[in-house]
Amino acid sequence: MALFLFFFFLFTLSPSLLSATDHIVGANRGWNPGINYTLWANNHTFYVGDFISFRYQKNQYNVFEVNQTGYDNCTTEGAVGNWSSGKDFIQLNKSMRYYFICGNGQCFNGMKVSVFVHPLPSPPTSSPHHSTPKSAASLVVFQYLGLHSLMLSFVLVMFGFVLI
Ligand SMILES: *[C@@H]1O[C@H](CO)[C@@H](O)[C@H](O)[C@H]1NC(C)=O
Ligand SMILES: *[C@@H]1O[C@H](CO)[C@@H](O)[C@H](O)[C@H]1NC(C)=O
Ligand SMILES: *[C@@H]1O[C@H](CO)[C@@H](O)[C@H](O)[C@H]1NC(C)=O
Ligand SMILES: *[C@@H]1O[C@H](CO)[C@@H](O)[C@H](O)[C@H]1NC(C)=O
Ligand SMILES: *[C@@H]1O[C@H](CO)[C@@H](O)[C@H](O)[C@H]1NC(C)=O
Ligand SMILES: *[C@@H]1O[C@H](CO)[C@@H](O)[C@H](O)[C@H]1NC(C)=O
Repeated sequence: MALFLFFFFLFTLSPSLLSATDHIVGANRGWNPGINYTLWANNHTFYVGDFISFRYQKNQYNVFEVNQTGYDNCTTEGAVGNWSSGKDFIQLNKSMRYYFICGNGQCFNGMKVSVFVHPLPSPPTSSPHHSTPKSAASLVVFQYLGLHSLMLSFVLVMFGFVLI
């Protein structure tokens, strides 16, 4: 039973863990004033589920998620979220443009970054021809979901069996 659960969680969690990338803002220069983060962002491709992480001196800087107005004008009014641990991992949950700024005035010194998050790419297929990429992708997704719900029902049945 324990072994089965282990494999169940391995199968359930591994695809998302393996495919999510952590994008460290500014790479080894981190989240600091005087860096053009537009250049950094242009060098990265973001997908739904990826993380963006901000590393900085705690208590000196922080991170606010704002909308385009907040980004353009360096204002945190109406911010969607804020982080201040010094090592903030933020998951990009949706395909949209995200805006992050520093909330203590350093936004005016360049501490602002905007990233566009792309939808997940279709899973790779073994076929060399891509005449029907959409249906191939949905077939893979269907099989993927089907496998998981099958395993889930199996686990539930096992639990029921144990409880009885
Ligand atoms: C950052 O680089 C981009 C692309 O080269 C440029 O358009 C932008 O003006 C630069 N921003 C600053 C604040 O220098
Ligand atoms: C873009 O990425 C490449 C490879 O990771 C790196 O060598 C280069 O310095 C990066 N450029 C910028 C502007 O971050
Ligand atoms: C943003 O700043 C510009 C000029 O700095 C100003 O004209 C505009 O009203 C500001 N927008 C908001 C929503 O505060
Ligand atoms: C951003 O949020 C502010 C405050 O909630 C709001 O006044 C402004 O219209 C918003 N701007 C955009 C582009 O949504
Ligand atoms: C930061 O976020 C918390 C909730 O996560 C909120 O209660 C707080 O008001 C926010 N701070 C600012 C300055 O917006
Ligand atoms: C994405 O979702 C997670 C968990 O639901 C949440 O903690 C995180 O703040 C979300 N990311 C953003 C940028 O809102």
